[in-house]
Amino acid sequence: MTYGRFDHENKEYVIHNPATPTPWINYIGQKSYAGFISATAGGYSWYKDPRWARVLRYRYNSIPMDRPGRYIYIRDRETGEYFSPSWQPVQKIDKYECRHGLGYTKIRGEYKGISCSTQYFVPLDDDCEIWYATIKNESSVTRKIDTFSFAEFAFYHVEADQQDVDWVQQSGKGWLEDGVIHFSMHFRLWGTTYFSSSEPHTSFDISLEEFIGKYRGESNPIAVEKGRCSDSVVSRGNGVGAFCHSFELAPGEEKSIAYVLGYRPHGSENTILSSAERWRNMANCRDAKKALDSFWSQYIDKIQINTPDGDVNNFVNVWNQYQCKTTFNWSRFVSMYQLGIGRGIGFRDGCQDCLGIMHTDPDSAAVFLRKLLRNQFKAGNAYHQYYPLTGTGDHGEAKKGEGYSDDHLWLIITVSQYLKECGKWEFLDEVIPFADDTTGATVYEHLKRAINFTAGDSGVNGLPRIRFADWNDSINIGRGVNNDASSVWTAFLFAYVLREFARLVELKQGAEDAENYRKMYTEISEKIRAVAWEGDRFVRAFKNDGQPIGSKTCERGQIYLNAQTWAILSGVVSAQEGAALMDFTDSQLNTEVGLMLHTPPYDKYDDVIGGASSYPPGAKENGGIFCHTNPWAMIAETILGRGDRSYKYYCQIHPAKMSSQDRFEIEPYVYAQNILGKHHPKFGLGRNSWLSGTAAWNLVAITQYILGIRPDYKGIVIDPCIPGEWTSFSLIRIFRGKRLNITVHNPDHVFKGVKQIIVNGINQNNNFIRFEDLKDYDDIVVQMG
Ligand code: GLC
Repeated sequence: MTYGRFDHENKEYVIHNPATPTPWINYIGQKSYAGFISATAGGYSWYKDPRWARVLRYRYNSIPMDRPGRYIYIRDRETGEYFSPSWQPVQKIDKYECRHGLGYTKIRGEYKGISCSTQYFVPLDDDCEIWYATIKNESSVTRKIDTFSFAEFAFYHVEADQQDVDWVQQSGKGWLEDGVIHFSMHFRLWGTTYFSSSEPHTSFDISLEEFIGKYRGESNPIAVEKGRCSDSVVSRGNGVGAFCHSFELAPGEEKSIAYVLGYRPHGSENTILSSAERWRNMANCRDAKKALDSFWSQYIDKIQINTPDGDVNNFVNVWNQYQCKTTFNWSRFVSMYQLGIGRGIGFRDGCQDCLGIMHTDPDSAAVFLRKLLRNQFKAGNAYHQYYPLTGTGDHGEAKKGEGYSDDHLWLIITVSQYLKECGKWEFLDEVIPFADDTTGATVYEHLKRAINFTAGDSGVNGLPRIRFADWNDSINIGRGVNNDASSVWTAFLFAYVLREFARLVELKQGAEDAENYRKMYTEISEKIRAVAWEGDRFVRAFKNDGQPIGSKTCERGQIYLNAQTWAILSGVVSAQEGAALMDFTDSQLNTEVGLMLHTPPYDKYDDVIGGASSYPPGAKENGGIFCHTNPWAMIAETILGRGDRSYKYYCQIHPAKMSSQDRFEIEPYVYAQNILGKHHPKFGLGRNSWLSGTAAWNLVAITQYILGIRPDYKGIVIDPCIPGEWTSFSLIRIFRGKRLNITVHNPDHVFKGVKQIIVNGINQNNNFIRFEDLKDYDDIVVQMG
């Protein structure tokens, strides 16, 4: 069955069947007031931090699924029949359509001649969301209509809301002031939620219990059934934003109502009424939507491609960029799968997420990097995650002292990418405090300390200690104090970072200073080759007792993907060795829906390995297809010059290319974090859509390595590695304010290799274009061969 399709012209995904296999969601709002909304209006909102300032309630992992949401009920006053245009929660509808767009969702439903189309979005400049609803009489007779809104308020602190039910309910307070519903705790310190509408209401409810009625649910609220709210306020209990409007519509006539739901932290409640007033004006709502649209069209404008593959174009030009921004905003914190409570903003995740917005918004990446750098210790390592409202971090699952082996090293990848994209070298001289030292040091010094930390933290075989985990959170062989288990993958990351940092140091300080890092690179590369190379594969890690994992000598987990791809990314193997390595990897780990993380999966819990073996075979980090790692294989293949292989890996995990939506189950417009691997009975089922490192790395893989347009410190590299069948492609790329109009011809159908580059009519003698040679508009014609 299919559930929807792309509308390329409007940059929307259109869902025509509301019973999607999982809730297919969209995000509204950015880093301040934000929320997500499913195709049937399920979901919730929060202010800056879904853990501390949750505005709407949502019941995860519950039955019926995907409740509650931002509902509107439409009732025919003559027959008493009612429906919800978003299908949920009443589930009675003649026509339905949901359009998820960039920063907004529009849902239209029709039942027995009455339709309602609602546009949900968060304006760029206010901490609230707007539901712009238009109700229309599609029939040939005059209709008497009642509409009801529904927004179930949360008690802000989400853990208290679930654990301290007595206290929060005794403290909950809701009142009407100037026609605006206010909801807060008696002590007010956690802020105030407000809800208003553009039209005078005929009745209202703020008490959830009164609106729904005893032993009823969202699908049959007593107020809707009766056709009238009871004008209830709350002096203890749960809150709802429910307004009833009653009106008549002649045939063909329509009426719009704008609802606004917002939040103000304690101290700024005095701006509530002016906000409500502003959004009562429908023209203001329409202007805010236009401003939002133009924000997004400028956001995605910095790179626009045209290749022979429409799915590639659609994702690079729209959806992949959009997902990258969402992932940058919320890391792994708040989604259908992450409850907005525990995870905070991850350090390694955040660094990688920056890569997905760097081409269009490097300034936001810099602002974010400053926050991360404040969560680095003066010894060079870092907290694993931090919380947006406090800005302070913790180690997540790892106990204090253990930490993770890789978090801090990602800083170098992200800072170097920032310098390559925008050339703002002064960033390196900014002084930023450490988590444990307010004096701080320059960013440059922060980076050096990151390297020094790993250089001084060796374990088994002289490779970096793995600590609680490395990239793979679930390989926990390093738990416990004085544990020397080491990570071959972190060693590869370290090598990658050293090579990059040496280049950066050379440009900043001169060749002599860089020499030290080059020496370290050679040392770690030789060490890896000496202790982890088994001829056909690299071992993944060494346990405290020196035993390998990811080795041919293991019974389970004999080969791990990351330990092969990063051998190539880091340059530790030659091209010839790399090709053999990747051929072997392909034969062991590839499936039609992506490369698995390792094989064979662990068949029972292994106390030394920990997390990975706690999943059934084929799930998540136990031999599942962890999509985040697939773009590393794509990049490795472009380094080896094998464009067909790289493109094959790109297509395999592309959500719009999945053979069956019922098998994949999740949204076709964003990448998944994981797909169940071939050892799992539900092989091919996707989960954890939206917030995943897959988004950023896929954008990097396709734009910088497959299409091969790669910013560098002093200019831009043109080095495509494409499928042989492509005869040409073109793209527009804004690079440091210059507009590059690039056309690539491939008459000989090669994978890689640039024969000629003509920049503004002048022949270049290599495939690197210096920044100073660029004009404001540049025509670049590339001949491959
Ligand atoms: C999750 C984590 C990420 C980790 C990955 C593999 O996506 O957010 O940090 O690298 O799992 O364990």
